[in-house]
Parts: sequence; C-alpha cells; structure tokens
Amino acid sequence: MELGDLLIEGKTKKVYAISSEPGLVLVQSKDRITAGDGVKAHNLEGKAVISTATTCKIFEFLNLIGIKTHFVRLHDEKAFIARRCEMIPIEWVTRRIATGSFLKRNVGVPEGYRFSPPKLETFYKDDANHDPQWSFEQIVCANFKFGGVTIGQDEVDIMLKMTQCIFEVLEKAWASLDCSLIDMKIEFGVDSTTGEILLSDVIDSDSWRLWPSGDKRLMVDKQVYRNLKEVTQQDLDVVKRNFSWVASQLDKLVPKPRSQVAVLMGSASDQEHCKKIAQSCEKLGVPCELRVTSAHKGTDETMKIVAEYEGQGIPTVFIAVAGRSNGLGPVTSGNSTFPVINCPPVKPDWGSEDIWSSLRLPSGLGCSTVMSTEAAALCAAQILALSDHVIWARLRGHQLSTWIGLKLADKKLRNSHLS
Ligand SMILES: Nc1ncnc2c1ncn2[C@@H]1O[C@H](COP(=O)(O)OP(=O)(O)OP(=O)(O)O)[C@@H](O)[C@H]1O
Ligand SMILES: [Mg+2]
Repeated sequence: MELGDLLIEGKTKKVYAISSEPGLVLVQSKDRITAGDGVKAHNLEGKAVISTATTCKIFEFLNLIGIKTHFVRLHDEKAFIARRCEMIPIEWVTRRIATGSFLKRNVGVPEGYRFSPPKLETFYKDDANHDPQWSFEQIVCANFKFGGVTIGQDEVDIMLKMTQCIFEVLEKAWASLDCSLIDMKIEFGVDSTTGEILLSDVIDSDSWRLWPSGDKRLMVDKQVYRNLKEVTQQDLDVVKRNFSWVASQLDKLVPKPRSQVAVLMGSASDQEHCKKIAQSCEKLGVPCELRVTSAHKGTDETMKIVAEYEGQGIPTVFIAVAGRSNGLGPVTSGNSTFPVINCPPVKPDWGSEDIWSSLRLPSGLGCSTVMSTEAAALCAAQILALSDHVIWARLRGHQLSTWIGLKLADKKLRNSHLS
C-alpha cells in the first residue's frame, strides 16, 4: 500500500490519501487529548493505540450489523483504512439521560431525566464559535453539497435515523457489559466515490459518556479529563487507564452466539422449505440447525430431540415444519418451555384445510404460526434478541436498511416525476 499526501491534520488525527486506491484513506491517530475546542490539550503517550483499538472494534461491530460506515480495516495499531469521504460539518448527538450541556440549555430539566426515544441534537462544527447548536431546519437550509450530494430533508432524515439506531445498538451492547451509554456524538461523510452517506470519523472514549453500572461517579470517558482544573501526570494516567479499560472491554462486544434456532421437520421432503428458513436465520446471524423428526411416527425421538436442546442450556426457538396435519409443533410446544413457531409448507391443493392443524390447538398450548420462511426466521430472531444484544442489533440494522431503502426509492420516484 502506497501512502499519498497528507489530506487533513486535525487535533487528534491525520488523514492520508492512498495513492494506489484513490477511494480510500488512512486515518492515523495521534497521542493527543484535547477539550474545550482545543483550548485544553495534552500529549498522552499510548492514546493513539487505545483510540484506534476502540474505534476499530466499534466500527467492526457496526459493519457486522449492516450499518453503512467508512471503516474498511485496521491498518496498524495506530491507524485504520477507511473510505475517503467529504465530511459533513455537523455533530449528531444522541442522549438517553440528561446531563452536561443539555442541562444548561434546558433549565428546569433535572440531571438524570430519561429520554424515550433518545433525544437527538445537532451542532455545527465551528471551533471559533464553540460549535453552535443547529436545528434540523438550519442544516437543510444551509444547502450543503458534499461528494455531489445536496444535504436536503431526506439526507437529514436518514442521518437522524442512523444516529438513533447507532446509539441504541451501542447502548444495548454496553448494557451487556454492565455499562450505561449516557450520550454520544458521531459524524457523517459522503463517500467521494459512491455518493453514499456513511458514518465516518471515529467513535472512541472522546465520543460518549459511559458510566459503569449506571453510576456517574464511576465515569470512564473523556469527561474525567474535561473536569480537571489542573492536569497532573497522575491525572493523565487515570484518564489513560480508563480509556484502556474501555478498549479492553470491547473485546467482549461480539460474544459467541448465545442462542439458536432448531428447525424440526416432519419429513425430509420438507428440506427445501427448511433451508430457506436457515438462510434467513444466517442473514440475521442466528445459528440454525435442521432436524428431521415426526411427532406422529416417532414421538419418542421428537421428545429426545427436545430434551437434547433443553439440556444445552442455550436459549432456543423451535420452528416446526410439518405439512398435512401438523402434530409436530403443538406436541413440541406442549412438552417444552422453549417457544415454538409453526411454519407449515402449505401446498396449493389442501393448503387451506391443512393450515387449521397449526391454528386450531388444544387448550393449554401457546405455539404461534407464520406463513413465510422469512417471517419464521424474523419472529425467532426477535424472540432470541430479548437476551442476545448482537441479534437485537442485527434486527435493528436490518430495519434501518429497509427504512433507508424505502426513503431513497421514494426520493428517486419523486425526482423522476419532476424531470
Ligand atoms: N473517511 C474520512 N475521509 C476524509 N476525512 C475524514 C474521514 N474521517 C475523518 N475525517 C476528517 O479527519 C479530520 C481530522 O480529524 P480530527 O478529529 O483530528 O480533527 P479535529 O481537529 O478534531 O477537527 P474536527 O473538529 O473537525 O473534528 C477531521 O476533519 C475529520 O472530519
Ligand atoms: Mg474530531
């Protein structure tokens, strides 16, 4: 890889062009910590490595769940490769809990006030004027144009939706590590090659407030540095230790899958239908096993398989696939506490009669029925997401992509009417 010109040097990082790949840049972190629009600034040896590790782990997670980001890959311990962007000079802030500057701007709101949905605020990046707060209308009316894209209402809506989604998935991820994500700041850019809006810049300990166990006194983010009146080497060591702890926690961000789907089919002839369920599960990162067992003809085997899954101690959703008379789903449901979803492979000839064997159940049974293989996988994933933040995040990412896809399709159609 051949490094090109230094494109931008900011307070905490340098961005280089890559001669061999004009669509990419190298984002190199500096051993520098700053606050108050750069008025307070210190060298902090080791910060570049910690910051790069933090950003890369967060962006890898966001890429995994389908959020569009500029992150391509880690380069070395102080730098990563990213898509080259034209940056939109807005800070997109999300808050779950009211604290800090919000309290000064919203007198009367007590610290700790909880926003549901999270509160979104935007600030124009302008160090000389201390990053003034801008309304969404001010952003639209600024008529920004970056990477050939005019930042209008649609683009602002997309970035707001992305901002909320990114906050919520990271909030859930941190909650799995017993840390409360209180608020967060992110930035977007427009990919200079594709014109796509991408989450850009970095997400590290400078980007959020993070309170272990939800306790403000335990804060491990840059606020500790901001609060310092005089800065001693000892203080800097504390800040660095906090940042380093945060980076190391992120190794546990994407644990091995902790839940699964077991598709039980009454006959091997239903395999094609079941493979479609498995494919939809795979897209959502849900481990999925296929088993053949007939509750009518091999009841003892069905019960053995149910016991096998219950014995694993892993949250499991059963999807029962049985044509004609569906004994499999109801029998499994009546003999297990795991959720059961019927997804009968309905054939055109007797389909409207067969479906009743999944719908009309003896009393005391609580299995549900869906008609499409994708719906079965989505329904199972939503159940498993209750205790698995990675699946939860993938569902959120999936919904976001659908939402953005519809928005862009609408924009395209509107524009085609105009021309
Ligand atoms: N993928 C990217 N392509 C191009 N520029 C990028 C990309 N990601 C980040 N940048 C830019 O790199 C610059 C250097 O970052 P740094 O955070 O050090 O700047 P800064 O001094 O804090 O200024 P700012 O207030 O703009 O963040 C910023 O202007 C940032 O917008
Ligand atoms: Mg910056």
